[in-house]
Amino acid sequence: MSNLMGLYTFSPNSTSAVASSSFEDTALFAPRTHHMHKKHMILGDQDVEIVSNEISSLNYATAMADKLTKESRDEPFFVVDVSQILRRHKVWTTALPRIHPYYAVKCNNHRLLLNVLATLGCNFDCASKGEIEAVLDMGVAPERIIYANPCKTASYIRHASARRVKTMTFDNEQELYKIKNLHPEAELVLRIAVSDPTAVCPLNLKFGAEPETAAPALLKLAAVLDVKVVGISFHVGSGCRDPTAFAIGIAYAHKLFEKGKEFGHPMRIVDLGGGFPGYAGATGHVTFEQMADVINAALNIHFPEGCDAQIIAEPGRFYAASAFTLCCTVIGKTNVTADRVTKEENMKDQPAFMYYINDGVYGSFNCILYDHVQPVGRPLKPKDGPNYWTALWGPTCDSLDLVQAQCQLPQLTEGDWLVFENMGAYTFAAGSEFNGFPRPEIRCIVTRSDSTLLHMLRAKMMAGNGADSSSGISESEDDAGSVAESLPNSDQEMSEMFF
Ligand SMILES: Cc1ncc(COP(=O)(O)O)c(C=O)c1O
Repeated sequence: MSNLMGLYTFSPNSTSAVASSSFEDTALFAPRTHHMHKKHMILGDQDVEIVSNEISSLNYATAMADKLTKESRDEPFFVVDVSQILRRHKVWTTALPRIHPYYAVKCNNHRLLLNVLATLGCNFDCASKGEIEAVLDMGVAPERIIYANPCKTASYIRHASARRVKTMTFDNEQELYKIKNLHPEAELVLRIAVSDPTAVCPLNLKFGAEPETAAPALLKLAAVLDVKVVGISFHVGSGCRDPTAFAIGIAYAHKLFEKGKEFGHPMRIVDLGGGFPGYAGATGHVTFEQMADVINAALNIHFPEGCDAQIIAEPGRFYAASAFTLCCTVIGKTNVTADRVTKEENMKDQPAFMYYINDGVYGSFNCILYDHVQPVGRPLKPKDGPNYWTALWGPTCDSLDLVQAQCQLPQLTEGDWLVFENMGAYTFAAGSEFNGFPRPEIRCIVTRSDSTLLHMLRAKMMAGNGADSSSGISESEDDAGSVAESLPNSDQEMSEMFF
């Protein structure tokens, strides 16, 4: 296992771009004059507000919503909790210490997330030229990228070759010929079809060579073509519910390692793909830790500690989901009868409400269509009063734009804020500005201790590259003020504020 894995370790061959930054955004906040501490750090090109350890995304969102409301503003926003990204990394390295994460950029390509993960020593799974450029642009070395799209555009393969990205997946003959012609130096990882049929998004229909016959034949053809195969990958499906699929994939990988070696391939990479849950309870009863137990047991059998295989995975939602909290406002309200919401004829005499909110299916809630998510919103500030049948619609003119078809909520009024947690995976990465509705603004927070840790990691990383250690991260005592300032600093103050 490389030394890149622990929360407190770093990747010696990563660097970070020095990105320009601006406090324009924070100039919205009331000016302050006295500072005990620096209040912001710049990570990549993102302004991150430093908050005390007690401040959660929800506290921060509440303060931000109050501030916007006071200013007669109602635009939706995300709170991105950098400390939560660090906590997820800690969970990963604790449960799967032998598996190096290659974060799947497709899941959420926000630069802050990519930057933090690069600083923590994560590597990257990229599926296109654009994703490769986004990662390289942070100063990440090309060896830290796996181009994990089994069917690649020819010009993108040439681009990968020019940018010295060598590791890439394939699952069919045509791709082998294409890569041989366009990128003969490439080191290939054969993707095999292994599936948890109960996964939220099974991927087997599209990708993966059949492992018993097609995969050995591809290994043989690659040897004949003199194309180097260095590993086996699979993806059990995003939102995996049955971790035994991982054990099956690992067993196949072992068999194919042996086969590949027979053909003279330098087999060294086992890539377990994605499928890990974004947060507790995300995919039914199986926990990340249970999944990890199954994986570790299978690795101990087929690739025991000390063997020369390098075990990697491509987690997406595991890192992205829980760090992003979305807040939207109610922009419109219609009084209806409950039958219109519930479709139950016998509810015609009950009051119900339809609300229109300022993010929808064409924006962050595209996850409803693409990721089979059923979002659950609630008032950012608890509301008294009875619950009513409620439908939540997005802001566009399309009736497909339905965020929650039926739920029970207290009565809301225009201008009220709703919060949706765990909204970082497959949300704004595919969101559009259809009908002229802009994407939510991004507000980022990090605790003081984690900001110090990130500084330390970045400095070590940059020193490893012989670069200026201040690159990529800086702190500011700007006098633009801070939302966090209006938040309590201790548990006691918190409880005084909220109860
Ligand atoms: C090749 C590949 N790797 C990794 C991922 C990330 O999966 P997840 O978000 O379930 O971890 C995906 C998602 O579709 C993928 O296609």
